[in-house]
Amino acid sequence: MSAARGNPLDLRAWLDQARALGELKDVAGADWDLELGTISELNVKRSHPRALLFDRIQGYPAGYRVLTCSTASPARLASILRLGSERDHRALVQKLRGQPARWQARAQDFAPLEVAQGPVLENVMNGAEVDLFAFPAPRWHERDGGRYIGTGCMVVTRDYDSDWVNVGTYRVMIHDRNHVGLDMIAGKHGAIQYRKYMQADKPFPVCIVIGADPLGYLVSGIEVPFGMCEYNYIGAILGEPVAVVAGGLNGLPMPAAAEIVLEGWAAPGDERIEGPFGEFHGYYPGKAATAPAVRIERVYFRGDPIIVGSPPAKPPNDYSYSKAVMRSALLFDALAAAGVPDVAGVWAHEIGGARMFNVVAIKQRYAGHARQAGHILNQCGVGAYLSRYSVVVDDDIDPSNLQEVMWAVATRTDPAIDIDIIQRGMGSKNDPMAIAYPYRAPFNSKAIIDACRPFDYLAEFPAVAEASKPLQETVRAKWKHVLGD
Ligand SMILES: Cc1cc2nc3c(=O)[nH]c(=O)nc-3n(C[C@H](O)[C@H](O)[C@H](O)COP(=O)(O)O)c2cc1C
Repeated sequence: MSAARGNPLDLRAWLDQARALGELKDVAGADWDLELGTISELNVKRSHPRALLFDRIQGYPAGYRVLTCSTASPARLASILRLGSERDHRALVQKLRGQPARWQARAQDFAPLEVAQGPVLENVMNGAEVDLFAFPAPRWHERDGGRYIGTGCMVVTRDYDSDWVNVGTYRVMIHDRNHVGLDMIAGKHGAIQYRKYMQADKPFPVCIVIGADPLGYLVSGIEVPFGMCEYNYIGAILGEPVAVVAGGLNGLPMPAAAEIVLEGWAAPGDERIEGPFGEFHGYYPGKAATAPAVRIERVYFRGDPIIVGSPPAKPPNDYSYSKAVMRSALLFDALAAAGVPDVAGVWAHEIGGARMFNVVAIKQRYAGHARQAGHILNQCGVGAYLSRYSVVVDDDIDPSNLQEVMWAVATRTDPAIDIDIIQRGMGSKNDPMAIAYPYRAPFNSKAIIDACRPFDYLAEFPAVAEASKPLQETVRAKWKHVLGD
């Protein structure tokens, strides 16, 4: 697509790239009921998981497909973010540093471009023809409350009293042939817009994009500022506007090459039981509860449509890697902005859902440097929500390597003085520990673990018993046939 015509967020163009990179695997014959979800879950826990493209799904026509694990490797994430080729996550974090601020600053120059036609209009189901079970929406896990057609999706909504269009990733469960449940946590932009319509007793217009270039759900799944349209932000990453087609019924903009779009309204008072569904930290923290039900009046879809799936689960899960990379870069920038010098690396670990177990490596420069880094990592704007453990290590430790981090914790701390506790910090109602808390509001306590060598004993601290780096490199090069690349 030329810049003048905008970028239609075509998933198939990206799939060609992923295939060329050797990052895509075809899977035929899986059952949408638990099997597809379990294959994806086991796949994403492998050391180099490929993206999976499921076809010939049981009970569905060949060509009706589901893509999973799309963002779960450095090479794929770099290509989705248009950051060139990158196969190392530390280098990817470095490339990402500063970019979110630049994208945000440029977003106003990339308003979406409305076009009249696009592949998304190839097929239409209208009114009584609407049947959401025509698509192979998976039941991902045994305890899920239903089939979730929307996980790696983009939910497009418009403000009640302004023309601000928001695009958020919120889970979407099928209730019946033409209704879905939409779980938007209070405070999320879609939820704020929904409340305004409900207060005015007006139906809430919604378009749900089930499948597009994964850049779409990656951006709609991060905290883009209030009042800013995610399409603008995506345009800033692409360097060209997103090409959109207006929904024929409610006028909301959908990417011109979207795979499937559900168009409809949530009527005032129509809230139904939704869930349960797992959370990013790996638990079902709450019981099923009511959520807005959207009546789908029309479905647009491409020939041989592809659902993009990205379900949460015990980490590493489908999107924990992309969250780890994105949040590590944001935390790195936040530390620099707060004036913490000599940060060598930051890693928001997948095991903590990229929120609950974060590590910063520093080159210690002065007394107190380590505590400063740890407290800011824990309490900065990007980091405070549901932060639990923030660990500070010396720069000889790779912060993304749990084995090394925990070795530093085990050997360079004196627990009585090296663990600071912050009480009544910013928590979440989705905290799996909330069940055992005494608080009447979403607080949690936080631990800052200073696992750096004590600054006042640096010179005397015992030397590490291992071959020096130059010796390791020489021996590795000479003994490649024994040690591998
Ligand atoms: C795959 C994925 C699934 C998500 N599911 C939900 C969800 O069901 N409900 C929710 O409120 N947020 C969910 N989130 C987080 C929101 O997408 C995120 O907070 C985003 O910033 C919301 O958009 P908003 O800032 O425009 O409200 C999910 C994120 C991802 C990446």
